[in-house]
Amino acid sequence: MAHQSDLIAQDIDAYLKAHEVKSLLRFLTCGSVDDGKSTLIGRLLYDSKMIFEDQLAALEADSKRVGTQGGEIDFALLVDGLAAEREQGITIDVAYRFFSTDKRKFIVADTPGHEQYTRNMVTGASTADAAVILIDARRGVLTQTRRHSYLVSLLGIRHVVLAINKMDLVDWSKERFDEILAEYRGFAEQIGIKDFTAIPMSALRGDNITEPSANSPWHQGPTLMSHLETIEVDDYLRADPFRMPVQWVNRPNLDFRGFSGFVASGSVAPGDRLKVLPSGRESTVARIVTQDGDLPRAVAGQSITITLADEIDVSRGDVLAHAEAAPAVADQFEATLVWMDDDAMLPGRPYLMKLGARAVGASVSEPKWKVNVNTMEHLAAKRLELNEIGVCNLSLDAPIAFDPYSENHDLGGFILVDRISNRTVGAGMLHFALRRSQNIHWQALSVDKAARASQKSQQARVVWFTGLSGAGKSTIADLVEKRLHANGRHTYLLDGDNVRHGLNKDLGFTDADRVENIRRVAEIARLMVDAGLIVLVSFISPFRAERRMARELVGESEFMEVFVDTPLAVAEERDVKGLYKKARAGELKNFTGIDSPYEPPENAEIRIDTTTMTPEEAAEFIAFRLDGGFDPGI
Ligand code: ADX
Repeated sequence: MAHQSDLIAQDIDAYLKAHEVKSLLRFLTCGSVDDGKSTLIGRLLYDSKMIFEDQLAALEADSKRVGTQGGEIDFALLVDGLAAEREQGITIDVAYRFFSTDKRKFIVADTPGHEQYTRNMVTGASTADAAVILIDARRGVLTQTRRHSYLVSLLGIRHVVLAINKMDLVDWSKERFDEILAEYRGFAEQIGIKDFTAIPMSALRGDNITEPSANSPWHQGPTLMSHLETIEVDDYLRADPFRMPVQWVNRPNLDFRGFSGFVASGSVAPGDRLKVLPSGRESTVARIVTQDGDLPRAVAGQSITITLADEIDVSRGDVLAHAEAAPAVADQFEATLVWMDDDAMLPGRPYLMKLGARAVGASVSEPKWKVNVNTMEHLAAKRLELNEIGVCNLSLDAPIAFDPYSENHDLGGFILVDRISNRTVGAGMLHFALRRSQNIHWQALSVDKAARASQKSQQARVVWFTGLSGAGKSTIADLVEKRLHANGRHTYLLDGDNVRHGLNKDLGFTDADRVENIRRVAEIARLMVDAGLIVLVSFISPFRAERRMARELVGESEFMEVFVDTPLAVAEERDVKGLYKKARAGELKNFTGIDSPYEPPENAEIRIDTTTMTPEEAAEFIAFRLDGGFDPGI
């Protein structure tokens, strides 16, 4: 194949220039080592001459030493760089590789094929324009082919290439090729892949990779490389409505205020009427500023700074769109979710959702169903485990501008982040906004929290007691309430055991049930604070994430966390209710501190060490802090 590597030596400037204007195709390869995936990628790199001389020499030496190809170059060795992979014979992470031809630049995401690596595949696929699905001609369409294709369809990858490999091992049989094609076509239709290009090949021998093969005179279609060189990229995005998530507000001095970001779709020009979402404010584009000067028009794929004719409020994370074709705004959605964390998704737990340039608190409902990725069956589910895919409802803390993922990947695709560890725990695709959220509006009331509280001559607040079972939370909370009550305060004590007799009767002690237990009690505490009460909450509340959720729900200034710090050994020794004994005997499952975790607070306002303080002293101390911290009346 013609290549410009000579040009590198002769005229580096000309080479770089030619390189710069070439379009870029990102694609994903799906399949396993057995299908010849690593060999195929190695072959593409080799044929595009992206291997340097010294690597080539090493490769030849390696092939002789460990190669499985009887003295010929083993292209898989080029790609299977990871030691673990060589040992296990599987690819363990997403590896991105770059190569180029005269016509185009390529980034190939090489993702592992096994089911336990679904999340890696989703990561690799998230920006891909095309997917090359490998099939071993001898084995045909396998379970994993179906799984890969389902994910490719789910992620909305527009171009699918069916690489029917190892054709040399079936004697280049056209019948075999047609048979595989027919089987795949039936399945592809079922999962919504409308179109695909099938190519018979031998990656090992180089047939139909860059040069048409004499072995398949019956194949009228392209070679893999020529097909990859001509797939249309991104152009379709320019015809879509204009969307630009604001990455940052650029304000170098008082005279300039611009909004910088990447044009996700469509085009924009000075004079266009824009809407800022979610606020809905409008203005007109004054200038489109770039490093290379102002532009008369900007299109999808460009990074620009827009200035507006009016001084309106625009923040990072807002979306700019044409006023007459703006995206919808909502705070509740149905979405497909791919779970990527070792810790399961817990319905009701607060996560952080990142969509476009926006980050917003979000919780996920119990899945409506999850999918068996091998059979596409829908299954009932209470939660999603690592690599599982399900359909759930999402509820956000604030409204966002969005498009369905099927219409716009940038405004409909999101990730979920754990708020404490900052890990990416899930990725998802928005389907649509839930209508109920659009039909329920906040009702403004005349008598508010301040009015209700002042009638009671107090400041409303929540005192949240957390600690192990038997730590002494309820005893201390009870004493604090007695003091407040004696002082004429209006109070209520929400106690775990008591609330579990009524409202939370349906909940047990799994992680998911505890999350829901705390979510409900946090909502009640908020209502009671709104009613002007001083609310004492005494729940184990073992997880930081939910205590933080309660704090945010109530509001920092009205929330006081009390860590009743009793070491496990001491609580167990006291064992007032005899539950530790039962738990140790295995009669009680998921017992906090024994076989269910307790995450101690890191920043509680008050810590009570019950090994050095009596309950009375503790109550006095808390009442004193309440007094000093908030209200002169107590
Ligand atoms: S929480 O973890 O969901 O916050 P909560 O405070 O409502 O727990 O309830 C804890 C009380 O339930 C304990 O004080 C104890 O009396 C009782 N209990 C019964 N089973 C368990 C268990 N498996 N783990 C902890 N507490 C339990």
